[in-house]
Amino acid sequence: MKAITLRTLRDMKSRGEAFSCLTCYDATFAGAMARAGVEVILIGDSLGMVLQGHDSTLPVTTDDMAYHTAAVARGNRQSLIMADMPFMSYATVAETLTNAATLMRAGAHLVKLEGGAWLCERVTQLAQGGIPSCVHLGLTPQSVNVLGGYRVQGRGEASSSQLIEDACAVVAAGAALILLECVPTDLAKRVQATVDVPVIGIGAGPHCDGQVLVLHDMLGIHHAKPARFVKDFLQAGDGSIEGAFRCYIEQVKSGDYPAPEHAFAD
Ligand code: KIV
Ligand code: NA
Repeated sequence: MKAITLRTLRDMKSRGEAFSCLTCYDATFAGAMARAGVEVILIGDSLGMVLQGHDSTLPVTTDDMAYHTAAVARGNRQSLIMADMPFMSYATVAETLTNAATLMRAGAHLVKLEGGAWLCERVTQLAQGGIPSCVHLGLTPQSVNVLGGYRVQGRGEASSSQLIEDACAVVAAGAALILLECVPTDLAKRVQATVDVPVIGIGAGPHCDGQVLVLHDMLGIHHAKPARFVKDFLQAGDGSIEGAFRCYIEQVKSGDYPAPEHAFAD
């Protein structure tokens, strides 16, 4: 199979074929994901919670991200590899470029940043320097202390219009992907229809172009009470790890996942 690129994802969006994304932090799981056919691998800063045992993503450093990105890249030549820029690693434009370059050298194909329209200058400069970016909107876990907890975002007219404006602004600035976390299904549907780049969702309903889940969550190994959108694909599949990945891919493509019980209403 040909390696997945941003162009593959754009073509899939235009064909209306959903793609799958999973978080991954090491070479062995990355290899299994390549064999199963997972299109996008995210080295998420969720590793602060699921690997390091912290209760938020805030302690994660760029060095931590680079270490895991390099391991994943060694194990997978097939999927598109996206690495999270951790808390405060993109505080300034200069730091954004330096730290994103570290992740690209470690093997990432693009980086992900949490925020909104204030990221525009960073996104443009990254793209000009050869680094595609994904902007993560909605529930942005690095801002948990500002948000006052992990909760659904974008409810109500003011908040949903703001999110759509943010999405349009960062896409105009050059963002290659949008990721929506924990937003109502209708809002995600509007974003998917409005922007011409692929939209990946987690707890954002079935209308996104792609879906993402945290590896440990989808294998049913929980560090905390699982969120509403989590489904155990180890149980849903044939009982093997690769079977769980294949089952996830199938259900994302068929639209069986996410079901209404995994999504949030307005
Ligand atoms: O860090 C992570 O795992 C993420 C996903 C939940 C989207 O950002
Ligand atoms: Na993350």
